[in-house]
Amino acid sequence: VTSTPATPRRLSVADLHASLRDPALESMNFLNEVSSRYPDAISFAAGRPTEEFFDVEAIHRYLRRYQEHLTVDKGLGPAEVSRTLMQYGRTKGIIHDLVVANLRTDEGIDVDPEAIVVTIGAQEAIFLVLRALRTDERDVVLAIAPTYVGLTGAAQLVDLPVITVPGGPHGTDLHTLTAALEQARQAGYRPRACYLVPDFSNPSGISLDVATRQALLDLAEAQDILLLEDNPYGLFTAGTERAPTLKSMDARGRVIYLGTFAKTGMPGARVGFVVADQLVDDPTGVPRLLADELSKIKSMVTVNTSPIAQAVVAGRLLENRGSLVAANQNEIATYRANLATLLTGLARHFPARKTPGVHWNAPAGGFFLVLSVPFVADDECLEISARQYGVLWTPMRHFHQSPEARRQLRLAYSSPTGPEQIEEGLRRLAALVTDRTEPAAPVVA
Ligand SMILES: Cc1ncc(COP(=O)(O)O)c(C=O)c1O
Repeated sequence: VTSTPATPRRLSVADLHASLRDPALESMNFLNEVSSRYPDAISFAAGRPTEEFFDVEAIHRYLRRYQEHLTVDKGLGPAEVSRTLMQYGRTKGIIHDLVVANLRTDEGIDVDPEAIVVTIGAQEAIFLVLRALRTDERDVVLAIAPTYVGLTGAAQLVDLPVITVPGGPHGTDLHTLTAALEQARQAGYRPRACYLVPDFSNPSGISLDVATRQALLDLAEAQDILLLEDNPYGLFTAGTERAPTLKSMDARGRVIYLGTFAKTGMPGARVGFVVADQLVDDPTGVPRLLADELSKIKSMVTVNTSPIAQAVVAGRLLENRGSLVAANQNEIATYRANLATLLTGLARHFPARKTPGVHWNAPAGGFFLVLSVPFVADDECLEISARQYGVLWTPMRHFHQSPEARRQLRLAYSSPTGPEQIEEGLRRLAALVTDRTEPAAPVVA
């Protein structure tokens, strides 16, 4: 029996959630789509970890290592081991003790395992936190700009307006932030939190110095807001000493810490977490951990994070005695070398006196830097760059609405494979920049 395909029902986007009309939600899809249409282009676009050290066999090894941990260290029998790995599980996750050990080893953060919710990537963690903080239309979240598009998009999903605060050349400008908070309050809003990436930010590559971190914590206390510290890149230093995380300096419980194993483990596992050790008062009884409130939301969105994926991440942690710094020695060296190649190449291709209007920052680590150019570097320009020049990058307009962002592009140096590819990518980029730059007016003697 054959059936005729049903005529698809036509719905109007006006009858769907307002976020679906917001460009933030198109952003990731658009960028992925351009990349997939030009597979041969050299990509400075994606903030992906290098694939050089991917090893499918390691997935099996990690899984076995965690299985052994459950048996030997935790004393579980075969039925309990298979239940842990294969059954629905604890909403807050099963590897919280190992996450805590890692935070202590690598980040100087000491927290109660119960304050951790293991999530499906940091993206879910961001969503859970924003969902919890949004109570009514007065609530807003501030975000240091340029801002990771995943924050802007998740805020849209929960109808939480984002007030962007320009971070300036040092990553965060406390005067501007204070002014923005006061202005928001005067306008009748209730600022709940400020989101930022203090270490090697996506997209700017900028890190905060220690004094600014301390001042920011003081500001959060004085202004009664939370800080949402998102830290996917902190351990990828290009040589300098790491600054302490805000959470490790947070004596007053102002910081909600968002973590991920996407860049330090593998993105395909889709495992992240949130540290939410704030206490939530409830008129009916004893205070609870914010993590438990987030877990209620998670139970209605994703139920629990795949225990198999958690086990893979756990195996990597166990194999490296809890240290992702140790686990990522090859990756750290690769990103460091890529950054050095990129900075040297930029200086060679764009000598200051011959290419006015072209400049860039020199981050101390991470995956990204920002290149300013003397023409509009928007989605249309990206399309031309991919099609005619074979090089991909990300227009900064996806992260910031400021006029200067129109003439900026983010270069991700984490995934190109080696100096030759970076050099060839730069050669292609230099050709685009030369062709798009108006020739300087001739000097009249
Ligand atoms: C700043 C920032 N936060 C969060 C994420 C999302 O991480 P995950 O893949 O764990 O969801 C990314 C990924 O690029 C990121 O750059």
